[in-house]
Amino acid sequence: MCGIVGAVAERNVEGILLEGLKRLEYRGYDSAGMAIQSPEGVLQRRRAVGKVAALEERLAAEPLPGRCGIAHTRWATHGRPSEANAHPHQSGERLAVVHNGIIENHEALRRELVAEGYRFDSETDTEVVAHLVARELGRDGDLLAAVQRTLARLDGAYALGVVSADEPDVIVGARKGSPLVVGVGIGEAFLGSDPLALLQVTDRFLYLREGDVVRLSAGGRIEVLDAAGTPVEREVQTFEHGDGAASKGDYRHFMLKEIHEQPAVIAAALEGRLGERSVLVESFGPEAEVLFRQVRQIHIVACGTSYHAGMVARYWLERFAGVPVQVEVASEYRYRQVVVPEGTLFVTLSQSGETADTLAALRFARERGYLASLAICNVPGSSLVRESDLTLMTQAGPEIGVASTKAFTTQLTALMLLTLALGRVRGLDEAVQADLVAALRGLPGLVERVLALDPEIEALSMAFAEKHHALFLGRGAHFPIALEGALKLKEISYIHAEAYPAGELKHGPLALVDSEMPVISVAPNDELLDKLKSNLQEVRARGGVLFVFADEQVGMAEEEGVHVLHLPHVHEALAPILYTLPLQLLSYHVAVLKGTDVDQPRNLAKSVTVE
Ligand code: G6P
Repeated sequence: MCGIVGAVAERNVEGILLEGLKRLEYRGYDSAGMAIQSPEGVLQRRRAVGKVAALEERLAAEPLPGRCGIAHTRWATHGRPSEANAHPHQSGERLAVVHNGIIENHEALRRELVAEGYRFDSETDTEVVAHLVARELGRDGDLLAAVQRTLARLDGAYALGVVSADEPDVIVGARKGSPLVVGVGIGEAFLGSDPLALLQVTDRFLYLREGDVVRLSAGGRIEVLDAAGTPVEREVQTFEHGDGAASKGDYRHFMLKEIHEQPAVIAAALEGRLGERSVLVESFGPEAEVLFRQVRQIHIVACGTSYHAGMVARYWLERFAGVPVQVEVASEYRYRQVVVPEGTLFVTLSQSGETADTLAALRFARERGYLASLAICNVPGSSLVRESDLTLMTQAGPEIGVASTKAFTTQLTALMLLTLALGRVRGLDEAVQADLVAALRGLPGLVERVLALDPEIEALSMAFAEKHHALFLGRGAHFPIALEGALKLKEISYIHAEAYPAGELKHGPLALVDSEMPVISVAPNDELLDKLKSNLQEVRARGGVLFVFADEQVGMAEEEGVHVLHLPHVHEALAPILYTLPLQLLSYHVAVLKGTDVDQPRNLAKSVTVE
């Protein structure tokens, strides 16, 4: 998804902007560009299709000296990836704009501007913003006021950065519906769509609110105006995560690094939240206990991998907390006539806290009479966190690989904590609570043991490199884990993969099974094991080759056409967390064999901030 970086500094900013763009690469993009005010007061721009490295080459040949500039990585929404459509967009030679999000009324605005004689060089919605600001600037020469008047004309979601050659050392930024932060330097100020883009220059940030407009100027001056145009102070916050998270260290890919971080981040997600024999309900906030007592029903809404975490949680919440649960993808939920029974808790799950559909679902839910909203999220200060009544941070640290790994297992950990917190206030048997709390404590160690199986999983991956399809099977809470396994494989290896509850096999997908269709199954030691074993026989009988991840106590034997990898025994309720790991590693190794772009798979974005 698009990324914005801006800087007003005491030094040349080209390097700062370029580094910022590189740090945003994980979000997914197809072109990049930069515009800088030269010391002679001229606005100069360089753009390139493809990776930031292509822009870097362009800049090496034709550098952009200057102390104030804006830069962007674009993920195409209006108009194909091309240099003409790459940002910054200009109006004439003296004004440049970068934009994330979508201007919904761009067609009407374009017609109006064309009628007035403005010439359009791109197919983007953004270019209307450049011309509108230029037109307004023509009235009184004040960039901030020109941007404010322009915003009044825009429908949609946006984060903007604007520079004008006529106002040296000034950037004006604005946000509505897309994230934008200001980095506070010493005598310098920065703009970014994500704090990660600016960690090389500062760890102090000011998070803009909906409707805010900001003016950054020389000497590190930062002026914020709220949606009503009133000057406001926004609190400066120190970024919590170490900068190490933004580098790959000794790992070949961010995804592999993040897979291996799971023992540590699951431990971090549990930290301070477990009592001796039960979950500390107060770790959800001071009002949580009173509120949790009133919960009669739960609606969970999320997208992508986060949605799969919600599907697992449904099994847990119904079983241990006795609360009926509905789980839905946010893009569907927000357009439904949802019926909300009294006492319903609304739960959103999101790694980034900026996914447009999930945020819109939360805003939609706020009008529907829910008891309260709880966000389970990984990014402090994100929109979702700020707009929810209660939050539970997953503590996974920045996740850079587009395919979500540690964010998912920490979400599951947080959801088990929610289950036990709700169970506690609703009278869940104390021995059951104590048993699960002890199992949670042991989880990071078990995850470590599964990671040690990596060489064996890598060996299994060879069987997939030439395949075009794969089928994932699971039962109960492992059906969503099968869905997540299939999602990982298709996201990063581009192999078509589907997941089914194993009991559904005979109702259709069995027709696809032959020796060319690998079938992957997770077989923990739970009450559905015997049923799963007969489902697997159905596959074997049709010549399908099976790859089974099984509990070491299950006694499932390796035979012709059946590859078995034994996992350490785990409390069956926590098995969905543990069984996720071999599926992540399998997809990773298949993708490496296929030579795909593991961390930035084609057509995908880390944080989808448009609908
Ligand atoms: C994108 C990412 C997925 C992620 C989904 C939801 O599609 O590529 O990995 O699961 O968004 O993101 P969120 O930040 O809300 O969890």
